[in-house]
Amino acid sequence: MRATLRVRRYDPETQPTPTYKEYPVDLPQYGTVLDGLLDVRDRQDGTLSLRCSCRSAICGSCSMRINGEARLACKTLVNKIASPGETITVEPMGNMPVIKDLVADMTLFWDKVRAVEPYLQPVGPAPEREYLVSNEAMERLTVAMNCIMCGACVSDCTVLEVDKTFLGPAALAKAYRFVDDPRDGRKMERLEKYTQTSGIWDCTRCNMCVQVCPKGVAPMERIMQVRSMAMEAGFNKTRGARHASAFAEIVKESGRLDEMGLALKTYGFFKAGFTLTGIGLRAFFRNKLPPLFHRPIATAENVRRLFRRLGV
Ligand code: SF4
Ligand code: SF4
Ligand code: FES
Repeated sequence: MRATLRVRRYDPETQPTPTYKEYPVDLPQYGTVLDGLLDVRDRQDGTLSLRCSCRSAICGSCSMRINGEARLACKTLVNKIASPGETITVEPMGNMPVIKDLVADMTLFWDKVRAVEPYLQPVGPAPEREYLVSNEAMERLTVAMNCIMCGACVSDCTVLEVDKTFLGPAALAKAYRFVDDPRDGRKMERLEKYTQTSGIWDCTRCNMCVQVCPKGVAPMERIMQVRSMAMEAGFNKTRGARHASAFAEIVKESGRLDEMGLALKTYGFFKAGFTLTGIGLRAFFRNKLPPLFHRPIATAENVRRLFRRLGV
């Protein structure tokens, strides 16, 4: 199949800004984007830099943005994302500096993974024989253990785009993997740490990490599990925890979200006024301020019934 790869080329040491170069490729029916790039490097331009190793979606090293979305190049079939003759845009991962061309500097990624202490920390004497873990626990953990550290979720995380201090989806999915492991003895310390600023409560649930993860880890869902575990363990005084409780409380009461009430319950009266007045004014002048008072909804009882059925 014929296609054109439009590749972002950039060498920060010699170029002031990135450029895009187009390379025509002719691939077999089941050729991947990685096959195309390797063909470009072998036959057309030996200066093209990229990372790859296993070519089987196992090692996680060939993550890059393909048509604007983070993917494994070795798992992306050209015929699935383009019609014959079409152009495919290939760029390095986002949210990370570029070392050269398609090679991103993953220091930020690894720093965040290290920050969640990604290793078991059992307490007490070791058992005489091996640690035994129930099948149910292993089934839960396996989802997070499938992570191949490719960085795709971090590349496309919308919070990391504006706040590089956020621990991010990969590290927090890893955090879940240890906080829910029955062999770990530091569950409470871990939960306390993950509930701090830049932790679990900073995720906006945009779902991008779920969409791009090539291994079904669904990092956002793992973050929600850590949130529930933190609330159950009593870590419910943080702003994020108050926000979640207030959100549910308001919807349960009135059948809809009251944004003003949510801000007051989350921040408290004085702090809400101090912190949110500027945002409120900007929203007002852009005609985006939500109504201060909502009319009651006649069918709110249906929503309350849903809450009762869920036992919350
Ligand atoms: S759901 Fe949360 S962690 Fe995942 S990409 Fe969005 S903000 Fe980032
Ligand atoms: S969670 Fe998924 S996308 Fe993120 S690093 Fe792991 S395998 Fe890659
Ligand atoms: S080369 Fe290993 S995951 Fe693509």
